[in-house]
Amino acid sequence: MGRKCIPKCKTARIMGWVQIILGGLVILVSILSLTRFYYAGFFLHSEEICEHLYAIKDVNVGLDAKALSDRVEQVLDMLESLQGKLELKEKEMEKNKGITLDKKFLGDEIVRPLHSANVALRQIRLPKMEEGGNFTVKEDPLINYFVTEEIRKYITSKENRIGKINLYGSDKVYNTIGHACVLHKKELEQYMDYDIGSYCDDDWNLAQKLMLNGCDPLPRRRCLTRASKVYHKPYPINESLWRIPDERNVMWGNYRCRNFECLSSKNPKRGYSKCTGCFEMEKEKVKWVSNTSLSADFLISDVLSIKPGEIRIGLDYGIGTGTFAARMREMNVTIVSTALNLGAPFNEMIALRGLVPLYVTLNQRLPLFDNIMDLIHTTGFMDGWIDFLLLDFILYDWDRILRPGGLLWIDRFFCKKKDLDDYMYMFLQLRYRKHKWVISPKSKDEVYLSALLQKPPRAI
Ligand SMILES: *[C@@H]1O[C@H](CO)[C@@H](O)[C@H](O)[C@H]1NC(C)=O
Ligand SMILES: *[C@@H]1O[C@H](CO)[C@@H](O)[C@H](O)[C@H]1NC(C)=O
Ligand SMILES: *[C@@H]1O[C@H](CO)[C@@H](O)[C@H](O)[C@H]1NC(C)=O
Ligand SMILES: *[C@@H]1O[C@H](CO)[C@@H](O)[C@H](O)[C@H]1NC(C)=O
Repeated sequence: MGRKCIPKCKTARIMGWVQIILGGLVILVSILSLTRFYYAGFFLHSEEICEHLYAIKDVNVGLDAKALSDRVEQVLDMLESLQGKLELKEKEMEKNKGITLDKKFLGDEIVRPLHSANVALRQIRLPKMEEGGNFTVKEDPLINYFVTEEIRKYITSKENRIGKINLYGSDKVYNTIGHACVLHKKELEQYMDYDIGSYCDDDWNLAQKLMLNGCDPLPRRRCLTRASKVYHKPYPINESLWRIPDERNVMWGNYRCRNFECLSSKNPKRGYSKCTGCFEMEKEKVKWVSNTSLSADFLISDVLSIKPGEIRIGLDYGIGTGTFAARMREMNVTIVSTALNLGAPFNEMIALRGLVPLYVTLNQRLPLFDNIMDLIHTTGFMDGWIDFLLLDFILYDWDRILRPGGLLWIDRFFCKKKDLDDYMYMFLQLRYRKHKWVISPKSKDEVYLSALLQKPPRAI
């Protein structure tokens, strides 16, 4: 008799537990909804309502009410669908006495959704009431927008231990993400979906896509980045500067090409369009050191001779494989080069040559302090597509990091002839001293503009 009872009792017991859990959730949701009504002043009397609403207006600045109600709605939906499934199963069981709750159904259809509903509810952070009835918003920005636990853990501010003030003079540390991450919730959740401590997917291209779309900075992750299985030590610096790196040191999984020869400009299926020919050393070797037919091309030696010995550090803002930095290194000038892996491994290439790639997008303020750089060189990055306002912010940012007397080298900026006046105005608005200024035709309706400008002293 005991044996016969086992499956039935088990089912009954499981159903009992499910009911208890569901009940608990319903209570939680109710409390939350009530709390929200209470905030809105539903249980207050007329004058109090006004006072209360007035107060709420003041404190609600930081509370993302929409995200909050979205979360609650999401959980309610989950509960509803769960209830539907359970009822269906119940009917099925009634009709066909043979059917029992199997483990897979319990796990996939009940326990997992219950768990995620539970997590979603627990993660909602409501503003805390302070003594005396004042609201204070303790909620971290965006915290109620994201459900994925790892994202929330990342963006939650981390308070110093035992109430100390840290070396920055603050009591907590905020990890930051770009605000446009909000627009790419699904992709961000995919990016942050990993087991802590395990290997990350080979998904730098997903990460870069997020960055380019404004989710920049990206959250840090707690998984181990994959590397090439056959990584060999890089060539010594006396060889690496002008040698195509060992292709085994690059993860090729997300490119069209699988080696450096394939990236040649002769290959129509190379997978990138900016900076074609950048991966051919014979083409790179002549840049900035030999005269060309284009008057908009300046030579490094000419530029450095304007300020002999004064140019020591600089930034190369553009798309390239580090050739400008390599040449400048030979002139004892240290250059960091911005790099994005747009269809080809630009970052790896620059680093394997023994130079410093700076992985930044156009979105961000440059991670460099004010008035420090001797030189900014820019080529191949911005041309006639760029929005004037965006360019304006970038120009002022360059101005910020350039030291008084520093040089801004605009190299082969190109645009439509009809836009030239506007762009010229923008470059000249900062009232830099003009050392060189050359406009030469690119095609029938496009022109090149190259300029060497010097930031004036700012004695104010
Ligand atoms: C509540 O806030 C008001 C205005 O900010 C303040 O004057 C008052 O002292 C606060 N009350 C308490 C108990 O903190
Ligand atoms: C580079 O330097 C290493 C040791 O410093 C030397 O053995 C090697 O021959 C050099 N290579 C070239 C191409 O000069
Ligand atoms: C480039 O041309 C100029 C004048 O035409 C000449 O003085 C200079 O030596 C040339 N430089 C190189 C590197 O060929
Ligand atoms: C760079 O520095 C080295 C070592 O100080 C020196 O020998 C070399 O002549 C310098 N090169 C240039 C182009 O100034």
